[in-house]
Amino acid sequence: MSAAKHHQVIIIGAGAAGLMCALTAGYRGRDVLLLDNAKQLGRKILISGGGRCNFTNLNIEPAAYLCRNPHFCKSALARFTQWDFIAMVERHGIAFHEKTLGQLFCDDSAKDIVDMLTTECDWAGVKIQLRTEILNVQAQEGGYLLLTSQGDLSCESLVIATGGLSMPKLGATPFGLQLAQQFGLNVLPTCAGLVPFTLQPQDKANFEQLSGISLPVVATAQCGKSFREALLFTHRGLSGPAVLQISSYWKPGESISFNLLPDTDLTSWLKEQCAESPKLSLRNAMARLLPKRLVEVLQEMGALPDKALNQLGKAEIESLQQYFSDWRIQPGGTEGYRTAEVTLGGVDTDELSSKTMEARKQPGLYFIGEVVDVSGWLGGYNFQWAWSSGYAAGEVV
Ligand code: FDA
Repeated sequence: MSAAKHHQVIIIGAGAAGLMCALTAGYRGRDVLLLDNAKQLGRKILISGGGRCNFTNLNIEPAAYLCRNPHFCKSALARFTQWDFIAMVERHGIAFHEKTLGQLFCDDSAKDIVDMLTTECDWAGVKIQLRTEILNVQAQEGGYLLLTSQGDLSCESLVIATGGLSMPKLGATPFGLQLAQQFGLNVLPTCAGLVPFTLQPQDKANFEQLSGISLPVVATAQCGKSFREALLFTHRGLSGPAVLQISSYWKPGESISFNLLPDTDLTSWLKEQCAESPKLSLRNAMARLLPKRLVEVLQEMGALPDKALNQLGKAEIESLQQYFSDWRIQPGGTEGYRTAEVTLGGVDTDELSSKTMEARKQPGLYFIGEVVDVSGWLGGYNFQWAWSSGYAAGEVV
């Protein structure tokens, strides 16, 4: 058997975190090999943000990340910030814009971001090898030995950047989680995050006809976390940014409260309407505030009395106010990894140095990006974690 080909640094996973780590280490003069089992690198970047890649957010802050240790992400986020990534994007002349809530998107295509990162890797002397299956990883004196479909490899530093479990169709694998377990590191249970809800059968029957309807809401989970964003009815259940965001804070069996009229004091509004048009039906009045089909369905479900405004009593108005500000849905579940944008849970951050991402009990082994138990909100936060954690490891490997 021929001797393993040696590199100082091997990174497994040529996605967002792996590319950033590779170029950072390459610029330090390290001999870096970036491996991926896919035939194309950065596939999630390419499809992200509807093909325009929401590559970071102006308002990055540790509070926008879910992790068992809420302090873990602080160091990496502070050392490679959204401004550092924006500076790189600007150096490459990539046009971008803020869409909403600080979310930055490419004007043209997510491909610009992949091209930027591969160009930087090229400048930094990184070798990239795709279509490579990693068959076995073992620790050996001074580093690691990898058996791969393209031959044996060895390295001093091994970085795992194989991402989470979301979107198996795009090549997501449990490789990183299994490797962590192989080396005795704790892996926290995983589940789909930033994912649409499915509905219980009765709710599904009631609401599937509303597919395509969207409205601004405040969605609140039982833990008290809330998001003011759009809710979208789909033929499978509930989606839209409000639902994706709150899904990361939801546990099976819990209900979600939606304020369907976050900008309206319904009691005062109904009184005003009644003064102007006393004979107007409640249903037609509510259709001035909410999509008409939604009002009709809620009335069919018995939530709205079939009355004119001047027939409504004080208690009825109060209960309408209560109903629309705290519309409760107990989801049947989520659409799971098939459509989730991220994976919650993963390699326990207690096992890693927050400065370098190195495994405390396994010198030379690093975990970055989504494989780690750090997940961000919707809106560019997850890519920023990939850039920041990739940079942190890239500085030391
Ligand atoms: P990533 O998944 O990017 O890369 C992992 C790499 O490892 C892949 O190239 C894969 O092929 C490779 N790999 C996996 N298993 C392997 C194995 N066994 N052997 C070798 N290689 C292996 N975030 C955001 O901030 N803004 C956005 O706009 C979006 N949009 C978005 C849309 C959709 C549809 C999804 C599914 C996700 C997003 N995200 C997002 C989330 C974002 O894509 C995600 O958080 C990052 O890509 C994570 O970066 P990583 O590098 O950790 O994994």
